[in-house]
Amino acid sequence: MHICLNDKIFRTLSEVVTAENVKAFVIGGWVRDTILKREHADKDIDLVVLGNGIEIARKTAKRINPKIRVSVFKNFGTAMFRCDDFEIEFVGARKESYVRGSRKPAVEDGSLKDDQDRRDFTINAMAVSINKETFGEFIDPFDGISDLKNKIIRTPLDPVRTFSDDPLRMMRAIRFATQLNFTIEEKTYKSITENAERIKIVSKERIITELNKIIMCDRPSTGFILLERSGLLHLIFPELDNLKGVEKKDGKAHKDNFHHSIKVLDNISKHSDNMWLRWAALLHDIAKPVTKKYTPESGWSFHGHEFLGSKMIPDIFRRLKLPLNDRMKYVQKLVDLHLRPIVLSQEEVTDSAVRRLLFEAGDDIDDLMALCEADITSKNEEKKTRHLENFKFVRKKLREIEEKDALRNFQPPVDGTEIIETFGVRPGKEVGIIKTAIREAILDGIIPNEHEAARKLMLVKGKEIGLKPVRKTASH
Ligand code: CTP
Repeated sequence: MHICLNDKIFRTLSEVVTAENVKAFVIGGWVRDTILKREHADKDIDLVVLGNGIEIARKTAKRINPKIRVSVFKNFGTAMFRCDDFEIEFVGARKESYVRGSRKPAVEDGSLKDDQDRRDFTINAMAVSINKETFGEFIDPFDGISDLKNKIIRTPLDPVRTFSDDPLRMMRAIRFATQLNFTIEEKTYKSITENAERIKIVSKERIITELNKIIMCDRPSTGFILLERSGLLHLIFPELDNLKGVEKKDGKAHKDNFHHSIKVLDNISKHSDNMWLRWAALLHDIAKPVTKKYTPESGWSFHGHEFLGSKMIPDIFRRLKLPLNDRMKYVQKLVDLHLRPIVLSQEEVTDSAVRRLLFEAGDDIDDLMALCEADITSKNEEKKTRHLENFKFVRKKLREIEEKDALRNFQPPVDGTEIIETFGVRPGKEVGIIKTAIREAILDGIIPNEHEAARKLMLVKGKEIGLKPVRKTASH
């Protein structure tokens, strides 16, 4: 069987490796996605060569263009360079054998088959020759092509061995199953459940990369269900695992917040590729277990879970090695505000409440509304339609007020400097009191969001707290 490698880059590589008398093969994701006719997620091409990967990368790059810079990763025995937008990574085929009494593997040069044996899944171990005389020849010792056809994720060797070589592969199995809509073969899946604990030796950085890839899938819930069932979720993200379960008292049950959260994540994923909005969806109810209460009068409640949830986020982000910057603050803000549009839609919508929401959400108001709509997971169609109708109304109100008052990125119409200069005071408590009074009056609709009205109020408020405007001394 032959595989068509259409891109020009393969002709170039073919000429060069043939001239260098080196046997080279494309392997891994590029081959898999070419056969699947799937758009390549990135322009990464993995090459396995028989010989020293680093040396061959250097020689190849030099022949293509002496100016190309080669990055060498000595610890991994790999080297990479960029050419025509592609990132081409070279690795020498290796064979690993464990020396008795030592945990460190001894790495020696190996054949293509040795290298394929050490790969994660049969669908990632398929190789295509790029040497001139055998260009396009397909080498598939584990029948990865059948697994591709049958949509199966399976390790090439005994899964215990493959997962013990790199336990992150347990998460990768779940990620590929979610991304490609494949099933994990029984023995492979069983081995994940039996070896889940081994994920503990993998770095947090590698784990979060896979978790983010799951979150970015079309239907991320598939991945989270597999993570939960296999026992991995409990180890990598206990707070999320903690959301599962239903408690019943006096015949009243609350919903399963784990399944609800991942459904909200699915809903938002249909609407947006913003990874942080997806994180907000996943985390919006994270504090429900710690705020859960039952009283016979009012049933189950989770008072303050939005506020407490937003407070839990920095610790979660720190532990998962997610960024502790404005992305995190954005997630915190959405979690904190996620009930506000619902409350708004249930009460009579006052202009003042809408103004306050606009003021607090700022530019993220549209994302917040999208999150709230995704949060409707009720199976009751009539209820769902009613909520959506209410949100439509809230959106309309938000537009009207925004047009009128421009509060989205609120800049006080009278700033601190003007207050200081008017009353001749130092920066301090009084300035704060006046600024707050102006902001509150605007949000309550007592004065418009305009300079003249705000200045008037500043003078009144100043007088109230014992300040007098200083007269400007006339200059001679
Ligand atoms: N690989 C592996 N074990 C890992 C990671 C990678 O065996 N823990 C091998 C697989 O053969 C994989 C190749 O290295 O196909 C490249 O890995 P990577 O770039 O992470 O994945 P891709 O398969 O290219 O897929 P994607 O780009 O979608 O992540």
